[in-house]
Amino acid sequence: MTDNLPLRGKVALVTGAARGIGRAYALRLAKRGADVAVVDFDLHSYKDYQLEAASMRGDTVVDEIREIGIRALGFQADVTDATTLNEAVQQIVGEWGRLDIAICNAGGGVGSPEETRASIVEKDLVDVVVARNLTGTIHTCQAVAVPMKEQRSGKIVTVGSQAGHRIEDNGGYAHYGAAKAAVAKYTQYLARDLGPFGVTVNCVAPGYISTGRLAPILSAMGDAQLLDDVPLGRYGTPEDCAGVIEFLSSDLSDYVTGAIIPVDGGLTYS
Ligand code: NAI
Repeated sequence: MTDNLPLRGKVALVTGAARGIGRAYALRLAKRGADVAVVDFDLHSYKDYQLEAASMRGDTVVDEIREIGIRALGFQADVTDATTLNEAVQQIVGEWGRLDIAICNAGGGVGSPEETRASIVEKDLVDVVVARNLTGTIHTCQAVAVPMKEQRSGKIVTVGSQAGHRIEDNGGYAHYGAAKAAVAKYTQYLARDLGPFGVTVNCVAPGYISTGRLAPILSAMGDAQLLDDVPLGRYGTPEDCAGVIEFLSSDLSDYVTGAIIPVDGGLTYS
């Protein structure tokens, strides 16, 4: 009989998992048997968006995971603060004895496409977006690398974006695209660094993924026009992304490292 719990006995950490795509990652890993620790600077961030709130089956994703009979921990922490993140990782290892999987998902952009054109985007916006996406990812990777090196095993997945590869028509969202491109490149450096320790490091680069936060923004930008560039002709779902995360977190991907995998319906490379 096929074991539907291939991650049983594994311990996972997912950042930015209180809502959206990160929540889908946390729930998917839990449904495959992994104990899951969630880090988010607001474990109730789903309340910002009605669609997200409507999909919740508990007060937080931590409760949702426990509800399916899996161990879960929640940390209200900012990934831009390395000290708090290190303490969270130490607590996870202290309680559960190991750390096998880390999904560095916390991130996102700030500002309008117009005000973030490459030639004018202001330093404050650049600093926030670089900290949230690149620095936060580096902090997370460095924190989890400590137990993973000791174990001589582990699977780290970072989260880039199609924006790290494609350039918006008007040169807008330059700070975000540059930060996500840097996340992808950092991933490859880390893969080289941690390969000898048996740790794989890969990056997923989502395309247009419909979440409670993004769905109205995509519609305002023009669904038909956006989807014209997507060979599969639809927006992605958090579940589409979670499938690839499951692959990169399991032994199916043991010989995959340093890869940047688009999850974008063909948007980037066709
Ligand atoms: P979202 O904004 O709906 O959720 C992000 C979550 O991360 C929120 O719960 C927020 O509280 C948390 N967070 C943000 N900054 C944090 C920090 N510094 N420390 C701790 N937690 C923090 O975002 P969404 O759409 O679910 O995206 C998840 C990831 O996927 C992000 O890295 C985003 O850049 C990336 N992505 C999303 C795409 C999409 O179409 N939705 C496309 C490409 C990439």
